[in-house]
Amino acid sequence: MAMTPGPGILAAFEAAKGFMPVDEGLALYAAAAEAGRLGLPLLEIGSYCGRSTILLADAARAAGVTALTVDHHRGSEEQQPGWEYHDPETVDPELGLMDTLPTFRRTLHRAGLEDHVVALVGRSPRIAALWASPLALVFIDGGHTDEHATADYEGWAPHVTEGGLLVIHDVFPDPVDEFTGQAPYRVHLRALASGAFTEVSATGSLRVLRRTGTGV
Ligand SMILES: C[S@@+](CC[C@H](N)C(=O)[O-])C[C@H]1O[C@@H](n2cnc3c(N)ncnc32)[C@H](O)[C@@H]1O
Repeated sequence: MAMTPGPGILAAFEAAKGFMPVDEGLALYAAAAEAGRLGLPLLEIGSYCGRSTILLADAARAAGVTALTVDHHRGSEEQQPGWEYHDPETVDPELGLMDTLPTFRRTLHRAGLEDHVVALVGRSPRIAALWASPLALVFIDGGHTDEHATADYEGWAPHVTEGGLLVIHDVFPDPVDEFTGQAPYRVHLRALASGAFTEVSATGSLRVLRRTGTGV
């Protein structure tokens, strides 16, 4: 299986709203393509407008598995009005609240990947509490507070199957690099300290870990 996205997919990724740079996207794709060989779903926490989802969905399509996405689509703290990462186009004019779901759906439709994605809309810990199936890959890119990043790790990392991958975004070991805190970095350290995960690669702020042990 190709470790690079199919034709037009990278262009769709670059055209989509979002924050992930291309080098991290390609590393995410390679992880998803590899994990897809396990024949289990790939799950992302934090989909926003579907930029990273395009890559997971294309890898899922190639592997014949499903990409699952978890997001309440109301935006993270730093994406709210008045904050640096706010995009006024993501606000529902009727409710005056962020709603990234319509853009997310348009992104996947335009990329021709809708059929390979199941979107779970809600708060990550609530969905995780209902989850009981193994996953080939868990990609953590949700809320960046300690509360949210820790809940994402505790709720979803246990479901990564043996040999499966845990991918964490926005890992900034150096506080100078951070824009929304170092919670993902602390989760990364915790995953390594658990003995359940071994680091496979680091690209920018993206870390790929493989489950090589039990527990979390
Ligand atoms: C940094 S953005 C994700 C970016 C996306 N992965 C990309 O590459 O374009 C974080 C997303 O996490 C979602 N989020 C934050 N906390 C959440 C929570 N507790 N449950 C579900 N979604 C959450 C926000 O709504 C937001 O869309």
